[in-house]
Amino acid sequence: MNIYRMRHLSILILLPLTVAADPLITHVDGRQRVSLNGKWQVIVDPYELGYYNYRYEPDPNGWFKNAKAQNRWDLIEYSFDNARLLQVPGDWNSQDSRLYYYEGTVWYKKDFDYDLKSGRRLFLYFGAANYEAKVFLNGIFLGEHIGGFTPFNFEITRLVRPKDNFIVVKIDNKRLRDGVPTVNTDWWNFGGLTRRVELIDVPDMFVQDYFIQLDKGKANRIKGWIQLSGGGKHPLTLSIPELKISTLLKSDATGRAAFQIEAAPELWSPDNPKLYRVQIITSSETLEDDIGFRTLSTEGYDILLNGKSVFLRGICIHEQAPRGGRAATEEHARILLSWAKQMNCNFVRLAHYPHNEYMIRLADQMGLMVWAEIPVYWTILWDNPATCANAENQLTEIITRDKNRASVILWSMANETPRVKGRLEFIRNLADKARSLDPTRLLTAAMERHYLDSKTQMIDDPLGDHLDVFGCNEYIGWYDGLPEKCDTLVWKMKHKKPLIISEFGGGALQGYHGDALTRWTEEYQENLYQHQVNMLKKIPFLRGTTPWILMDFQSPRRPLTGIQDGWNRKGLISETGQKKKAFWIMRQWYNEIELKK
Ligand code: GCU
Repeated sequence: MNIYRMRHLSILILLPLTVAADPLITHVDGRQRVSLNGKWQVIVDPYELGYYNYRYEPDPNGWFKNAKAQNRWDLIEYSFDNARLLQVPGDWNSQDSRLYYYEGTVWYKKDFDYDLKSGRRLFLYFGAANYEAKVFLNGIFLGEHIGGFTPFNFEITRLVRPKDNFIVVKIDNKRLRDGVPTVNTDWWNFGGLTRRVELIDVPDMFVQDYFIQLDKGKANRIKGWIQLSGGGKHPLTLSIPELKISTLLKSDATGRAAFQIEAAPELWSPDNPKLYRVQIITSSETLEDDIGFRTLSTEGYDILLNGKSVFLRGICIHEQAPRGGRAATEEHARILLSWAKQMNCNFVRLAHYPHNEYMIRLADQMGLMVWAEIPVYWTILWDNPATCANAENQLTEIITRDKNRASVILWSMANETPRVKGRLEFIRNLADKARSLDPTRLLTAAMERHYLDSKTQMIDDPLGDHLDVFGCNEYIGWYDGLPEKCDTLVWKMKHKKPLIISEFGGGALQGYHGDALTRWTEEYQENLYQHQVNMLKKIPFLRGTTPWILMDFQSPRRPLTGIQDGWNRKGLISETGQKKKAFWIMRQWYNEIELKK
């Protein structure tokens, strides 16, 4: 009996197995799919009654059974039938004021019919769910996923029926000390089915995954591999019509076909975000994707895009929707990235976790380079093997999803992690994993500097030995002195590697005006930015900046009544879309840089 049948058999006897999701299907947008977005029935369950019995043991008759009274005397103490509704995709915090601060379990349920044709397979795909999801179909446990920002899918071919299917998902967004991230973050813990849910309908043998990029440092060689869903030697064709490429390949016994093809594509760049229609043609399907080709490397302090040194005119972005909630739609992505373009950015740091795929796809099309990051944030449990495996899994899932996107140039391993025992090994392990999955991109992390003396900023984090590009966060003029402190500081760096100042800035309540030393005014923020820019211009080995942050964002760490009210006010734009005075300082500087190119 193959593993596939064995797995489903074990589910059928419903042991509460910790069953991981199936291998991720790459590029679901290119597949035959049915959206399950829309209103889902929900039950809020802070005591997890729907999963555990009163002895706190998994209950085989939990709420995932969606049981109905068969007789008038039956006792059933839950029902989805008259339950409240929540929009999917979307967090629950911003949809229902009773759930604004809620951290715990919410049960989601959705009915659907599906006529699966013979010779086809069906998968249930989630763009993400924060933080832990246990997924059931027709009362049967499919598996679980941990991590709030990466996609996952389960095969349901043998379980789906033409009529009356019901999905039940238990989502728990409790923060966990051994989680990734851990319990302390400076962003809102938005819970729920925060990204799209879809049925993905594929042929028996389908294209599971593929990597199609330029060979590292080779502008004239397309290299990669295509992985078919099952093993076996099958013919397939890789076609890029605009490059007059149509290469016949044959998969090996494991179903993988490796290739390298001499070609001379027009190179992707922010000034020319050229994408090519790529086709993977097998006996059962033609899968199409739009892929950009560019080279990426470093040379001393320089970051080379297509062999030319580039300055990354960036901005940090949280996955925050204007006016509140988790950004979840293509429209949110377009708003946020359009604002970055208005600042004359060519680069965005998507903090502090993988953003939704709309952001990456739009960055490809709009010509914005991307710093992608996993939420290894602050005080992670470095010595906990499960925490390490969790971080590695989230890294694997995001690289699987986005490794064909030209816009993604940096994988960031961490943010502001302390130099304590276990941290270096933990993050070095992640760096090794990232390089094994994707040898073409550069690795970085947002690190911290320290004072060598009262005037000298020293960047020498040992983590830098294992990374390609340094990110360094600093808040001189906000957390560290007043803005004019910037004027007398000098910067030194131990490693001869490219430096991005990956965070700087300060807060302002949009519309609050006063003199340049009155904290929280737009004038204070503007003055801070002016002093920062004057300082940054003097750092000879600086190759990029991503000020913190594009737009105000929700955070429980920011309670200052009348100013913060649960929002981190370091945005250059308010959550209502109003630009603050400091926005124009950044735009002015980026215009100057672009003119000097
Ligand atoms: C830190 C951290 C951010 C945080 C910011 C702030 O550098 O990386 O996540 O929001 O500072 O204090 O506003």
